Amino acid sequence: MDHFIYRNGGLHAEGVPLAEIAASVGTPFYCYSTATLTRHYQLFKEALSPLPNLVCFAIKSLSNVAVLKVLGDLGAGMDVVSVGEYLRARAAGVPGDRIVFSGVGKTREEMRVALEGGIRQFNVESEPEMRALSDVAQSLGLRAPIAVRVNPDVDARTHAKIATGKSENKFGIPIARAREVYAEAARLPGLEVVGIDVHIGSQLVELEPFEQAFRKVAELTETLRADGHDIRRLDLGGGLGIPYARSNEAPPLPLDYGAMVKRTLGHLGCEIEIEPGRLISGNSGVLVSRVIYVKNGEGRDFLILDAAMNDLVRPAMYDAHHDIIPLAEPAAGSPTQPFDVVGPVCETGDTFAKGRELPLVAEGDLVAFRSAGAYGAVMSNEYNTRPLVPEVLVRDDHFAVIRARPSYDEILKRDIIPEWL
Ligand code: LLP
Repeated sequence: MDHFIYRNGGLHAEGVPLAEIAASVGTPFYCYSTATLTRHYQLFKEALSPLPNLVCFAIKSLSNVAVLKVLGDLGAGMDVVSVGEYLRARAAGVPGDRIVFSGVGKTREEMRVALEGGIRQFNVESEPEMRALSDVAQSLGLRAPIAVRVNPDVDARTHAKIATGKSENKFGIPIARAREVYAEAARLPGLEVVGIDVHIGSQLVELEPFEQAFRKVAELTETLRADGHDIRRLDLGGGLGIPYARSNEAPPLPLDYGAMVKRTLGHLGCEIEIEPGRLISGNSGVLVSRVIYVKNGEGRDFLILDAAMNDLVRPAMYDAHHDIIPLAEPAAGSPTQPFDVVGPVCETGDTFAKGRELPLVAEGDLVAFRSAGAYGAVMSNEYNTRPLVPEVLVRDDHFAVIRARPSYDEILKRDIIPEWL
């Protein structure tokens, strides 16, 4: 469920007509709903209750500081994968003891900043990383709380580019080697073992792969406890998928996910952490774009939009489907037509959809890409010197620009012509 709905003939974000934002901000732009962000966060909280838990929003999916503040003010933790993301969480007012630091290649400098600033735990992914972290913590007179990310070798049955839990993926340590790795962690003077971490992939549309992984984690918890480790937290990662095509997809709900977590891990008395990104942010955002031209091609019509692959790369990168709907509500039973929906970037891959049945739209019309809140703005870039797409946040009947579109002046000023040229 989200808060982008037709009212009085036009698509609204909560109480604000998106066409009004387009008139004020220009297109393309991302728009997020505070109410949807809040609801999705709360769904996870309800699903995990009464287990002690911390829902850590995966910042990588949507990292605007205003959005982080919405979630942080509700009590959310944050999952960060770089010092940049760590600083974003802190700028949003999230205390260090609610921030977990994931990622396969943390540098010593990143470890230092997080340790000095305060951190709940590092999810470490290799022995060299453990040794480096122990060193850095020791040099600061601290002990770094850690969970080791284990790779359970389960097939997440998702797009190959976003599956992370198979043994051939670069993530985590093989679960079969966990005992020896934990033994070394316990010997390292700058570390304090607090738990186990696992994350098997993103956009999972079935619970079964999660369940397989969590059963392995349950077993490992008992084994490591028997070895004398104080396993008190289980970080289960993110990955729960969302319905991108409203017509035919129904991934499991957070409530079912929570019930399965309780069934598989509830008896262990651990605090549960999860790191959802997409399920919180995905359907909380749309990308609004204007039709520049309708071009009649050979046997097909192209809808040429002012948004492009640099603004929303998911279709080009993962063949991802995003529903596209007009801002003006089509009358019931009004005709549709197949369009190839493309952007202005000079690449054939700059195609959002092929043969997509859409209501008849014309030059100048506005359309919205649904489910664009996650991995949308964060993956945008300025390819073809197209200014970074702005972001807008709506709450009730008002909106604010939370990242402005840069001017061409600002863009050009970033380049430096050396004096010797
Ligand atoms: N935790 C870890 C360690 C992760 O690597 C990720 C996502 C998450 C949590 C959050 O997963 P989520 O709940 O959002 O599925 N750019 C791709 C998705 C990449 C996901 C990377 N890791 C896309 O647009 O589909």
